[in-house]
Amino acid sequence: MNEHGASMGKVVSLCKSRGFIYPSSEIYGGLSATWDYGPLGVEIKQNIQNAWWKEMVRRHENIVGLDAAVMMHPRTWEASGHVDNFSDPLVDCKKCKSRFREDALQKIWFEKSIDNGVCPECGGELTEARRFNLMFTTQLGPVEDAGNLIYLRPETAQGIFVNFKNVVDTSRVKIPFGIAQVGKAFRNEITTKNFIFRTSEFEQMEMQYFVRPGSEDVAFEEWKTKRMAWYVEHIGIKPERLRLNEHGQKELAHYAKAAFDIEYSYPFGWQELEGIHSRTDYDLKRHGQFCGKEINYLDAETNARYIPYVIETSSGLTRSVLVTLMDAYHEEKLDGKDEMRTVLHLHPQIAPIKVAVFPLVKKDGLSEMARRIEEGLREDFATFYDQGGAIGRRYRRMDEIGTPFCVTIDYETMDNRSVTLRLRDSMEQIRVPIEGIADLIRRETLSYKRS
Ligand code: GAP
Repeated sequence: MNEHGASMGKVVSLCKSRGFIYPSSEIYGGLSATWDYGPLGVEIKQNIQNAWWKEMVRRHENIVGLDAAVMMHPRTWEASGHVDNFSDPLVDCKKCKSRFREDALQKIWFEKSIDNGVCPECGGELTEARRFNLMFTTQLGPVEDAGNLIYLRPETAQGIFVNFKNVVDTSRVKIPFGIAQVGKAFRNEITTKNFIFRTSEFEQMEMQYFVRPGSEDVAFEEWKTKRMAWYVEHIGIKPERLRLNEHGQKELAHYAKAAFDIEYSYPFGWQELEGIHSRTDYDLKRHGQFCGKEINYLDAETNARYIPYVIETSSGLTRSVLVTLMDAYHEEKLDGKDEMRTVLHLHPQIAPIKVAVFPLVKKDGLSEMARRIEEGLREDFATFYDQGGAIGRRYRRMDEIGTPFCVTIDYETMDNRSVTLRLRDSMEQIRVPIEGIADLIRRETLSYKRS
């Protein structure tokens, strides 16, 4: 349990019961470290992705988008260093065959108070550590031989580097500029507990910002600030649950000159949510060497030709879904009642359903009127219609999935065309004319501040 009261178990169970996230291939017993996004999960994931795209691509005149293939030429991963360096040191138990990351064993031994040097599962003897590459391989084409071996990309970033020249030649970008991409990435991770935190198939939202050599430190600082602010202002994450953590020299990835993680306070401790990396000219230089033609940039302002330096912002989309749900989850006692409510305090931009419409009762034309109102709102918002059960129960079900606005149609609506608009966080109910609902929702969304 963390300080905001969301236990992982409760969030996992809500995700399953309300259709956010299911274990993958569940009817066959599931597949380890893979998850499927249900009707509400896909909406929340898409809303986060859209908020990121809007912030990075639409709001920045000098950032353009890209959607590169998951399967890339295998030389890409030799050039990037992933073939040689993207590996974990693993040890196996000779008896029960369990596999562990060598660097995680010390902590496991300590936490379980067991002898160092033995298998934490069965006490058996462990092998020496061996390097285990995290990239998945597959074959391209009908013939299975070594020449057809390819990798599923372990990061989206390389699709951006290999297209650097294409983008410069075909769009009007001028340094400093960025290329942004959202897409799937794959890693054969060995430690995959904690729900969707670390999975073998996941999505990243990455942006590579190309700058003049020498100006990378200024850009690095700018992006650190901007990225932290985005989670608070646009995703609605509580600022006190986020922090920046600098990588020590030993932790730096093979390509990085400096790196900070944006970390979140998960129930299992502070862990990474996004990486911000100063990648120097490493990637462009290496691709130039491997493809046999230097990849450089002619700066029209200075007339100098150089290999740009890169600042990367690399956020996990699926990990952001986890953070958003954990952060929003809250259980509270209702005033004056012996009843609890579970509520997701999701930012209205991110909530899978924006507005639910209920007739107080089904009869006397109320449900027909409610339907007409819901159809009108559907043009602009993700809506939900429900006419069954007690109104309090209907509100509770919407609280649980984070619906910020509920509209109730009652007998007064038939008399004066006004409805009750109920706000999720405060549970306040306001009377508004039908014609004013959409504007009020827009205003409340724009001015939304997490309580
Ligand atoms: N291009 C740089 C890069 O990939 P990273 O720190 O390895 O850097 C960036 O990954 C982000 O991708 C992480 O902060 C995390 O949000 C997400 N991520 C990485 N591995 C993941 C996994 N196995 N499952 C879910 N998300 C992952």
